[in-house]
Amino acid sequence: MARVTETAPAAPRGVTGMGYARAPESRDLVRLGAEYGLYIGGEFRPAVEGGTFTTVDPATEEPLAAVADAGARDVDLAVAAARESSEARWGRLRGRDRAKYLFRIARIIQERARELAVLESLDNGKPIREARDVDVPLAAAYFFYYAGWADKLEHAGFGPSPRPLGVAGQVIPWNFPLLMAAWKLAPALAAGNTCVLKPAETTPLSALFLAGICEEAGLPPGTVNVVTGAGATGASLVAHPGVDKVAFTGSTEVGKEIRRRVAGSGTRLTLELGGKAANIVFDDAPVDQAVEGIVNGIFFNQGHVCCAGSRLLVQESVAGSVLDRLRQRLATLRLGDPLDKNTDIGAINSAAQLEKIRALADSGTAEGAERWSPPCRLPERGFWFPPTVFTGVSQSHRIAREEIFGPVLSVLTFRTPEEAVAKANNTPYGLSAGIWTEKGSRILWMAQRLEAGVVWANTYNRFDPASPFGGYQESGFGREGGRHGLEAYLDV
Ligand code: NAI
Ligand code: MG
Repeated sequence: MARVTETAPAAPRGVTGMGYARAPESRDLVRLGAEYGLYIGGEFRPAVEGGTFTTVDPATEEPLAAVADAGARDVDLAVAAARESSEARWGRLRGRDRAKYLFRIARIIQERARELAVLESLDNGKPIREARDVDVPLAAAYFFYYAGWADKLEHAGFGPSPRPLGVAGQVIPWNFPLLMAAWKLAPALAAGNTCVLKPAETTPLSALFLAGICEEAGLPPGTVNVVTGAGATGASLVAHPGVDKVAFTGSTEVGKEIRRRVAGSGTRLTLELGGKAANIVFDDAPVDQAVEGIVNGIFFNQGHVCCAGSRLLVQESVAGSVLDRLRQRLATLRLGDPLDKNTDIGAINSAAQLEKIRALADSGTAEGAERWSPPCRLPERGFWFPPTVFTGVSQSHRIAREEIFGPVLSVLTFRTPEEAVAKANNTPYGLSAGIWTEKGSRILWMAQRLEAGVVWANTYNRFDPASPFGGYQESGFGREGGRHGLEAYLDV
């Protein structure tokens, strides 16, 4: 029976359905302010021109807080504060002293993990289980990892005395707001740079919380600055002449625009953009494990994942049985209140993203693919999309080519390993791929041929701070994580 129907979260919070007991995490764990300022030079302050915008809970559409909307003058102030710290404070510290601050930030993230998880779930719509078990612990892990490098940079393989670049301008998206902040800040700070971070307009709260953690850790003022706002704020930051390095994670479209803008300026650039990854299941794969991997690949974080396994390539001989098991498994997923610890699929992050997912899914039907979702009643308020599987997909369909960034899986089949490689590589992207097979030799054979920055074997969406992450082609360039992630922040 489809539990999704049974537990349809249309019932108001607090009402328990037959046979199912909700397990909500307490919203009271986090104290939300009514208004949030920019974090510049170690102080929270309103925008110079006084503008604000509202961030909402996508599961209810209720406003969470008003947040300062940074204009060009605020960006100037933030870059100036970062420059000052770079020259007078942070840039003068020894590596082993920088390390102490990073360790302290990591530990405070751990101490305040429950608050952070609730805040992230509220602002983003992701299930508390994922915020609690993935986003927050990984954010701490990246700070711990890079704290360890701060006093060992001369042994990182970039020459005897690698120098920081100066001021980093960092623009991040809404799918992993805290984790992306950690991916950007930790290596930059470890390498001795100062930062101006611009979180996404629908999810600014955890970056501001992290700014508070930096304060609590006693980080010198101006070392980390957070400017909130929409695309215009990001555009002012990446074009600012005082920024030495730009790091961007987000859409390929905006990444291309930033690349044009930064070209010829001498500003260093790394881009982590979209993806359309193939998750490839061979006939000798352990089926139950592969089905879990398919589910984790595309339904983790509502599919708002750049490296999501959004194209399932399944060997023709087992396609029927794999899809049967997949449908059975999807019928057990619980969709609804993100703060319920049993929830598997939370809310879509914004009305705009929901619109994009709907339009692309509709194109799948219009172009002749067959659409299936488990029985699933969606809540009346908020932004929701059911887990969806398209079969009969051909390589020319938009749902096989374009990044949907939602809980939508496109299924294609193949007969031989060569055909699997050809289909997997038939994309303008090149971020990630998954292989499911019992044969080690086949894993290596495939991994050598797949044009993707990350290839997972018999697992998916697994992250570790020691492992570099990044793409080819339209997925961007540069690596985050690991020793490689330091290179982007050092003058080598
Ligand atoms: P986006 O690329 O517009 O937003 C990402 C960040 O860039 C946000 O902080 C935004 O304020 C900022 N930004 C927007 N325009 C900018 C500009 N001209 N200069 C500097 N910064 C700018 O992505 P959006 O519109 O939220 O999502 C659209 C699609 O992009 C999604 O459907 C998905 O396909 C893809 N995407 C991919 C992500 C990834 O992790 N690779 C993350 C977010 C979106
Ligand atoms: Mg929000």
